[in-house]
Amino acid sequence: MKRSVIDILDLTTAEIDGLLSTAEDIMDHPAKYAEKCRGKKLATLFFEPSTRTRLSFEAAMYELGGNVLGFSEPNSSSASKGESMADTARVLSCYADIMAIRHPMAGAPYVAAQNASVPVINAGDGGHCHPTQTLADLLTIKRKRGSLENLTIGFCGDLKYGRTVHSLIAALARYPGTNFVLISPEELALPSYVKREILEGQGIAYRQATSLEVVLPELDILYMTRIQRERFENPEEYERLKDSYILTAEKLNRAREDLIVMHPLPRVNEISVSVDADPRACYFLQVLCGKYMRMALILKLLESTAADVAPFADSVVFDKLRCKNPSCISSKEQELRHAFYPVSEENGIYRCVYCEEKVKL
Ligand code: NCD
Repeated sequence: MKRSVIDILDLTTAEIDGLLSTAEDIMDHPAKYAEKCRGKKLATLFFEPSTRTRLSFEAAMYELGGNVLGFSEPNSSSASKGESMADTARVLSCYADIMAIRHPMAGAPYVAAQNASVPVINAGDGGHCHPTQTLADLLTIKRKRGSLENLTIGFCGDLKYGRTVHSLIAALARYPGTNFVLISPEELALPSYVKREILEGQGIAYRQATSLEVVLPELDILYMTRIQRERFENPEEYERLKDSYILTAEKLNRAREDLIVMHPLPRVNEISVSVDADPRACYFLQVLCGKYMRMALILKLLESTAADVAPFADSVVFDKLRCKNPSCISSKEQELRHAFYPVSEENGIYRCVYCEEKVKL
């Protein structure tokens, strides 16, 4: 097994700081890195649509002198014949030196990492997490604000299914003085595993709001998100909530002069194009930062040795305990063990190792 990044917390703060420095060095001295991955292959396994993330990984590998193979929609892979994630990971380990996986089911890249003999990078798993978008976001914040400390950040939109939000909250919660403002309709509030374990569990300041206009003047960063239509079980609910928040140039008049407006993209309607000309709009800078951070991550993982691999944390399996989340990889692949991490053994509360949803014994 090799070092993989499935969750942003698989990287220590010092390692993230190292990746930020490498990415900035690549920006300044691209020629120094142009041959670093000569002869190496990256496989991109995209079971879900993507423009930025897949092409950003591919551009990153090409700029390091390496090659890329893969697929961008599941119907062209053996997954459509029912191949398991574990087998796909074993097969791809024979062809590539590293792989990036995007999948609609939470936990799929984790299953791949357990079975691959090369590093696996999670390029987004369902509504769960998206660590490399977080790396892009952190570099953007560092370049625009100079530091990752003492910032008030407002997350606005779909905080329930927005995987980029979950990963960025986990990362920023480790920097001192972060203040979180969670702006969403009640139906799209942050999942309780993020709220309880990341925020409340670490005593981190946060507040919830439903009005963007009211909180906007306090923010250093506004992180807008798309309402994630593809994750809704009920299409009518999506229709009702889809235009909950729209940032316009006029609304921005209420914000600080040094605010930065971020969005992982694609945007649908939530940031009006009238905002693009405002110097506070940073979403295209995020795209550029994403490529450099992926270059830094690919280099780091290819250089890692067996000694760098943290063992998978101890999990437990009970005959009767099953994860009930229909978007969890364990509900799709019948052969997978339903394994859990203990949260509170005395109260019989456990957390699924794949999707992190809580279950009670
Ligand atoms: C995000 C994603 O896929 O989660 N996009 C991206 O990777 N840049 C956000 C989204 O799809 O809304």
